[in-house]
Amino acid sequence: MIENKSEFLGAAFRAAMLAGDLIVKNLGRISEDDVTIKQASDFVTRVDRESEQLIINTIKQKFPEHHFLAEESVKDIETGEYRWIIDPLDGTTNFIHGYPVFSVSIALEYKKEIILGAIFDPLRDEIFTAEKGKGAFLNGQPVNVSAISELENSLITTGFPFRRKDFIDNYLKLFKNIFHKVSDIRRAGSAALDLAYLACGRCDAFFEIGLSAWDVAAGSIIIKEAGGIITDFGGGPDYLATGNIVAGTPALHGDILKEVKGVFREVIEK
Ligand code: IPD
Ligand code: CA
Ligand code: CA
Repeated sequence: MIENKSEFLGAAFRAAMLAGDLIVKNLGRISEDDVTIKQASDFVTRVDRESEQLIINTIKQKFPEHHFLAEESVKDIETGEYRWIIDPLDGTTNFIHGYPVFSVSIALEYKKEIILGAIFDPLRDEIFTAEKGKGAFLNGQPVNVSAISELENSLITTGFPFRRKDFIDNYLKLFKNIFHKVSDIRRAGSAALDLAYLACGRCDAFFEIGLSAWDVAAGSIIIKEAGGIITDFGGGPDYLATGNIVAGTPALHGDILKEVKGVFREVIEK
């Protein structure tokens, strides 16, 4: 049985607010010494790590038995009954440059199913939340995916494959194919916010290759609870494991998936 549903959301909410506050206080105050390179084009800052500790400590105070999968410190493959999946700062490159698009993403998994998601944009004071079966919310108000039904009227979001630059030719081919069919495409730099915006109708579909579970976990349940669809590149449910994501409104998800399948045949999960 799933217990304490709203206590879970309370803990996620508190942790997200504390982390958001820490991130905003440090915006514009990052020196070279605060930044470490994980791999080419992939950075982590002191603030990512501090935010993660703050989130984990806040949740642990309330739920000491729970497990964690967090980007910068704990890769707890032991899922247990409850496991929190945390991206303590989604949009680190933006944050380092002072580009004002980043978020905190917190999800809770119960027996390997995501049952709660919270994505907080501390600059706009917007928190997107969902619990399984209860709908999706923006600052406590119910939200839904958009009603746009034609690709030509749609606004699409995406992320560039900067960690896998070997994918760039195929990615650009896909981008071009989609670009010709839609109204426009955005690349803002926080996948969690891209998913949150899809859930509340600010954009209509999203695609990205090579994300991690912490980028997607919270957004996936918020999208589903808002009436949207999220799949892997094969159209199946393995999006957290593969990180290859197509999400969209029920009217448009299939159209974007068809384009993705047309180009990325070799990474489509069987
Ligand atoms: C990144 C952002 C970005 C996406 C990357 C992610 P990070 O997260 O979500 O939009 O394109 O693939 O890794 O590294 O800033 O937490
Ligand atoms: Ca991320
Ligand atoms: Ca991150």
